[in-house]
Amino acid sequence: MPSSPATRRRTVTRGLALAAVGVAAAVLLGACGSGSGDPNTVRVYSGRQYDLEEAFAQFTEATGIKVEFQFGNDAELRERLAAEGDDTPADVFISVDAGNLVKAADQGLFQPIDDPVLIDAVPPALRDPDNLWFGLSVRARSIAYNPDAVDPAELTTYADLADPRWEGRLCLRNSGNVYTQSLVAALIADVGREEALRIVEGWADNAEILDSDVMILDAVAAGQCDVAITNHYYLARKYEENPDFGVEMVWADQQGKGVHVNISGAGVTAGADRPELGRQLIQWLATDGQAAFTAGNHEYPVNPSVEVDPLLVDRFGVDFLRNPMSAETFGALNADAVALMAEAGYR
Ligand SMILES: [Fe+2]
Repeated sequence: MPSSPATRRRTVTRGLALAAVGVAAAVLLGACGSGSGDPNTVRVYSGRQYDLEEAFAQFTEATGIKVEFQFGNDAELRERLAAEGDDTPADVFISVDAGNLVKAADQGLFQPIDDPVLIDAVPPALRDPDNLWFGLSVRARSIAYNPDAVDPAELTTYADLADPRWEGRLCLRNSGNVYTQSLVAALIADVGREEALRIVEGWADNAEILDSDVMILDAVAAGQCDVAITNHYYLARKYEENPDFGVEMVWADQQGKGVHVNISGAGVTAGADRPELGRQLIQWLATDGQAAFTAGNHEYPVNPSVEVDPLLVDRFGVDFLRNPMSAETFGALNADAVALMAEAGYR
C-alpha cells in the first residue's frame, strides 16, 4: 500500500533522526499513542533541533531516564499536540520563540510545573507567569553589518533602520517568520502601535526581504546589503566555520531599552502520561544540562549561574543591555505584530 505524504514524511524524519542519535535516545513512532511503553522513558516533541541529541544523551547518563523525541516544525507539532489531546505520546514540548510558547499555552497544551528548583533557575521574565513554560536558552536578535561598508557607530537602534539613508542597503527576514513577529511585537510593547507602524513602514521601504537568517548573513558578507537584523547564533555558527567571516554584530538599543532577546523553552504537555519525568527533564535542561543545551547552538544560558559558551564570550561579549521585557509580553502580542506588518506592507 502506498504511504501518504504525511506518513512518508514521518518515516523520513525518523530515519534522519535515528541516524543522528546515539544509543541513549530514540524517536517517537509517529502520532497517536504509539510511543514507548517503557515507564522510564520521557517523550519529547521538539521544534528546536540544534544539537539536542547530545543533551538528551547526557540526561540519560545522569538520571537513567531515557528520552524519545520527534523533531519537527513548531506549528505542525503544536497542531499535532492539539489534535492528540489526552492521547498524545508527548510528555514535553520544546519550542523556539516565546511567540510559539505563548500560542501553545493559549491552546491549553501545557500543564503547570510545580518545581522550586526550576523556578529558581529561570529568571521571571524568561518563564510563564503561571509556570506553563520555561525558557531554556536566550537568543538576541540584533543588527549585523558589513564592516567594509558601515561604521558601527552609525548603528544604534532598530528604529534608526527605518531612516531613508538605509534605503536599498538593509536586509530583513520575512514577516511570516516568528523571530520577526516577536521583534515587532516587542517594538509595539515598547513604543506603542503608532510609532511601531511608522518604524516598520520605514523598514519595509528600505529592505530587501529574505527567507532565512543564514541567507541574510550571506547577503551581508557578499555586499548585497550593508546592514541586517538576525539572531546572534547564526553569526556565531558562521564564525565557527570561518573565524574571518566578514560580518559583525552590534547590540541594538544600548542607550535605550536594550537588545531584543528571545528564548527557546519547554513545558510539560497537558496530556502527558509521565509529567513527573517531563518535569525532571526540563529541570535538568535548566540546571545541570544548561551548558549542553545552550552551547550546541551558541545561545546564552537562561540560568545566570551557568558559564557562557567561550565563542560568545570572545566574539559577542556578555556585558550588554538586554531588553528586560518579559517573553510572555511580546509572545502575547504576536497577532498584533502580524496585523501591523500587513498594514505596513512588510512582506
Ligand atoms: Fe533559529
